[in-house]
Amino acid sequence: MLKLPGLIDPHVHVREPGQTHKEDWDSATQAALAGGVTLILAMPNTKPPIFDAATLDLALESARQKARCDYAQFVGAGPDNADILRSLAAQAAGLKMYLDSTFGELRLDDMTLWMPHFQNFPKDSPVVLHSESRTMAAGILFAALYDRPVHIAHISLKEEVLLIKAAKERGIKVTCEVCPHHLFLSKDDIPAIAHGHPGRGEVRPRLATKEDVDALWKNMEVIDCFATDHAPHTLQEKDSDNPPPGFPGLETLLPLLLTAVDDGRLTMDEIVQKSVINPRNIFRLPEQPETWIEVDEKAEYEIKAVNQFSRCGWTPFEGWKVKGQVRKVTLRGQTAFEDGKILAEKGFGRNIRDQ
Ligand code: DOR
Ligand code: ZN
Repeated sequence: MLKLPGLIDPHVHVREPGQTHKEDWDSATQAALAGGVTLILAMPNTKPPIFDAATLDLALESARQKARCDYAQFVGAGPDNADILRSLAAQAAGLKMYLDSTFGELRLDDMTLWMPHFQNFPKDSPVVLHSESRTMAAGILFAALYDRPVHIAHISLKEEVLLIKAAKERGIKVTCEVCPHHLFLSKDDIPAIAHGHPGRGEVRPRLATKEDVDALWKNMEVIDCFATDHAPHTLQEKDSDNPPPGFPGLETLLPLLLTAVDDGRLTMDEIVQKSVINPRNIFRLPEQPETWIEVDEKAEYEIKAVNQFSRCGWTPFEGWKVKGQVRKVTLRGQTAFEDGKILAEKGFGRNIRDQ
């Protein structure tokens, strides 16, 4: 049995408040524990979005009652909430800025709307950008102009990883994450994922070309974190005429990474660096005491949505054979997950930003 620290997933869509038929603080944190993740950072594009003190309280109260693993909640940048968000920074995981269109209402089209957020949000609190391609280049320019760190969510393109590499070499304070679906899937996999339902292949950023995927692997040292962008939508919604973008990912993250280690494409050290140490530093997270996971590196199994704790009922990795299974999760001295069973109670999870 291999022992690793509990993983940190800095990018999770919990869906509560507002869309608990997709997921809630209970089911999302069960999925996290089953995946060996002991700390999640929750995104603010809920219904309503988390964009002021009242909505932050709403999310944190549900989390307080239901979460089974540790957590923090992001606040979302809107057209006129930069002042309020500054005062909430200490209670939040950080600030999320949606600079390209995706699921939910939070979106800042105009670059003049970015400015007050870059000006106001404390420099020692994390800022995460959803910014693709040239928008990402603009976001990196903002990091340089305002001389503050930014973290780029879910990079997927060769041009993105190369630009981040160049920016880092010039001392710009930029970090980035990559999602398993952008490392293990390309455009060419869409027909197999879709099974005649094109909505199942929809995700933002979209699945990219093989060349893009190869560039991410080739520049692994540029990538600071692995993040799932766990974005559960039900199968019924994915198969509808207006399918929302997003893939679930909490329960497939570690088995996919361990399989890559078995294939010689990744090292165990890289997993620990990008799923524990770097996210802890970038997002200024406390160490979780007496917290570790035990993994059977030899166990081979098939990924199946029916075995998942997520409420969404599907996975783009259905039928994939993986090697490496989470057997046991110990969180703050308590067994939280063992042999397929969640043992942590609702409400056991802690808000790591609580003083
Ligand atoms: O595919 C996505 N789904 N990308 C995002 O940026 C948002 C997410 C969601 O909330 O469903
Ligand atoms: Zn996301």
